[in-house]
Amino acid sequence: MSNTKKDTAIPNSQLQNYHVPVLLNETIDGLNIKPAGIYVDCTFGGGGHSRAILERLNENGRLVAFDQDDDARKNLPADDRVLFVPQNFRHLQRFLRLHKITAVDGIMADLGVSSHQFDEAERGFSTRHDAALDMRMDQRQPVTAAAVLKSFTESQLHKIFEQYGEVTNSKTLARTIVQQRAVTAINTINELKQAVHSVVKGNPQKYFAQVFQALRIEVNDEFGALRELLQQSIALLKPSARIAIITFHSLEDRIVKNFFRSGTFAETEVDEVYGNKTESPLKLVNKKPVTAGTEELKLNPRSRSAKLRVAEKKA
Ligand SMILES: C[S@@+](CC[C@H](N)C(=O)[O-])C[C@H]1O[C@@H](n2cnc3c(N)ncnc32)[C@H](O)[C@@H]1O
Repeated sequence: MSNTKKDTAIPNSQLQNYHVPVLLNETIDGLNIKPAGIYVDCTFGGGGHSRAILERLNENGRLVAFDQDDDARKNLPADDRVLFVPQNFRHLQRFLRLHKITAVDGIMADLGVSSHQFDEAERGFSTRHDAALDMRMDQRQPVTAAAVLKSFTESQLHKIFEQYGEVTNSKTLARTIVQQRAVTAINTINELKQAVHSVVKGNPQKYFAQVFQALRIEVNDEFGALRELLQQSIALLKPSARIAIITFHSLEDRIVKNFFRSGTFAETEVDEVYGNKTESPLKLVNKKPVTAGTEELKLNPRSRSAKLRVAEKKA
C-alpha cells in the first residue's frame, strides 16, 4: 500500500493536547477499511481517528472530515486525500452531494466534545473555569447556554436536566433557576453556580458536571443531529459498508442501538417467534458495544464511558 502523502507537519504533542482518541484501534478495525475507499469521519476534532483511517488508505482512497468547530481545522494534515467540511454532520448528505459523493465505504463518529473544547475556558464547557455560559461547538449558531437558561420554561429546563443530565433533583433545580433569573442575570458559570448553590446535591463537582452536560446537549441539539446522521447514513453506505459510532451517554447509545437493530428510533419490539418486527437495513457487527480495555482506561479517563457500536449495511 502506498502512503506517500502521509503528513508529518503537525507535532504529535499538539494533537495529543487537543484530544486523545478513544477506542482508536477498535473503531478502525470495525470499519474494515478498503484501501481505495471513501470514508467519512463526522467528528474530526484532533484528527486521531482520521489519521488512522488515512494510514489504511492508498493514494486512491479519500477521507471526508466534518467538524462544526472551526478550531479543528488547525489539526488538518496536508494530505490531498482529505476534504474538510466545517459543518454539522446533520447535513452530511447535502455536503457530500455538493462534492459529488453519493455513496461511501464507511462512516464514523466519535460524539460529544473534544478535550480542547473543555480546556478552553472561554468556550464555557467546563465547570473548572469561570466564563460566559456559551457551550456552542459551532460559534455561528445563535443559541448559547445562557440563552437556554434565560428563555426556557421551568418544565423545559426540568426535562433537559432530567433526561440529558440525569440530575437527581432536576425539578427543584429548574424551579430555582426560574426564581433566581427573575432577580439576577445568569450569564456566567460562577453566576449559575451562585444562583443554584442552595440546591446542589452530593458532590458539587459531579452535580455541576451533570448540569453542564444537559445544557451542552441542548445547546448543540446533539441527539437531534445524531438521529439525522443515522437516517442519512442508510442512503449513503454502499452494500457491506460499515458505520461505527462512539457514544458517551446512555440515551445517545440507546439511539444508536435501536437504529442499528431496527432502522428506526423506536424501542425495538421483539416478536417471540419471528424476532425483530422491523427489518433493519443494517446488520450488527458486534451484539454488545465495545468498551475500553484496562490499559486504555488507565491512560485515558475519558474512555470510561465510551461505547462503540458498529453495523454493516446489508448487501
Ligand atoms: C470527541 S471529539 C472527536 C475527536 C476525534 N475523534 C479525535 O480523534 O481527535 C468530537 C468532535 O466532533 C465535533 N462535533 C460534535 N458534534 C458534531 C456535529 N453534530 N457536527 C460536526 N461536528 C461535531 C466537535 O466539535 C469535536 O471537535
